[in-house]
Amino acid sequence: MSKLETLPSEEVFTLFQKLVYDKLGIHLAKQKRMMLGHRLLKRVKHIQANGFSDYFRFITNPKNSVELEVALELMTTNETFFFREEKHFEYMAQNILPKINPNREYKVWSAASSSGEEPYSIAMLLNEHCCAPWSVVASDVNKSVLAHARKGIYIDDRTKLLPKKYRETYCVKGTGEFEGYMRVKPELRKRVNFFAFNLLDNISNLGHFDLIFIRNVMIYFDDKTRQKIISDLQQCLNEEGHLFISHSETLHGLEHSFELIKPAIYRLVR
Ligand SMILES: C[S@@+](CC[C@H](N)C(=O)[O-])C[C@H]1O[C@@H](n2cnc3c(N)ncnc32)[C@H](O)[C@@H]1O
Repeated sequence: MSKLETLPSEEVFTLFQKLVYDKLGIHLAKQKRMMLGHRLLKRVKHIQANGFSDYFRFITNPKNSVELEVALELMTTNETFFFREEKHFEYMAQNILPKINPNREYKVWSAASSSGEEPYSIAMLLNEHCCAPWSVVASDVNKSVLAHARKGIYIDDRTKLLPKKYRETYCVKGTGEFEGYMRVKPELRKRVNFFAFNLLDNISNLGHFDLIFIRNVMIYFDDKTRQKIISDLQQCLNEEGHLFISHSETLHGLEHSFELIKPAIYRLVR
């Protein structure tokens, strides 16, 4: 039997590139060939495929849609942590929430929530500072990270930016086999509604929001995809709604109806 390749050929990598782009909108640069090989090799072995080309044939066979989902999930980068990019949370608490209508529900969507640290941070902040009824929904294309998010269990190391006061109010410390972990309390977990959603899909049934977090995901998309998503998001923002992108992202070069208020903070102007 020939030795199993550890890297797809350039030709096979091109096939994966197109697949990942079509299904997720993620643009894999040429330099990601090694990363792709590294992330998929264990799956190639697991299904006993005869290399990456064979694995590609397998996952693109409609009978094997479960393995396709596994492969696509391995192509996403899910890095996140509590109160990431704190300036957004400060701005929310100091400039947005004091001015909202206390008689109307304030609705927030975390649109690429990964394992939940972002929407739980939002929920903690709302619970402390929001004078109106509020709701948080959170979505991601990757169902495995959503399952993690619903459990709400996090390794202590990854909660460094979580203020002590919030940790004490909204989390419980793990003991025994959960030593070194903490769990978001059920009262708060119940307030965040997680669902699977691909940002390439039709957004029209999702409803309307006052604030959308779409952070650290558009970096993986090309301009065409970013334009589609930004146009969609402005359709589901309420009048004067806010959009938070990452401080390492920009809407520069895209057509939109947002006014830049501060770095990475936009308000819809119709
Ligand atoms: C780096 S994480 C960002 C998490 C969080 N927003 C933050 O800033 O910490 C990017 C997330 O985007 C998700 N993602 C990638 N492509 C997506 C798509 N087409 N639709 C929805 N989510 C997607 C990934 O699964 C991943 O969990």
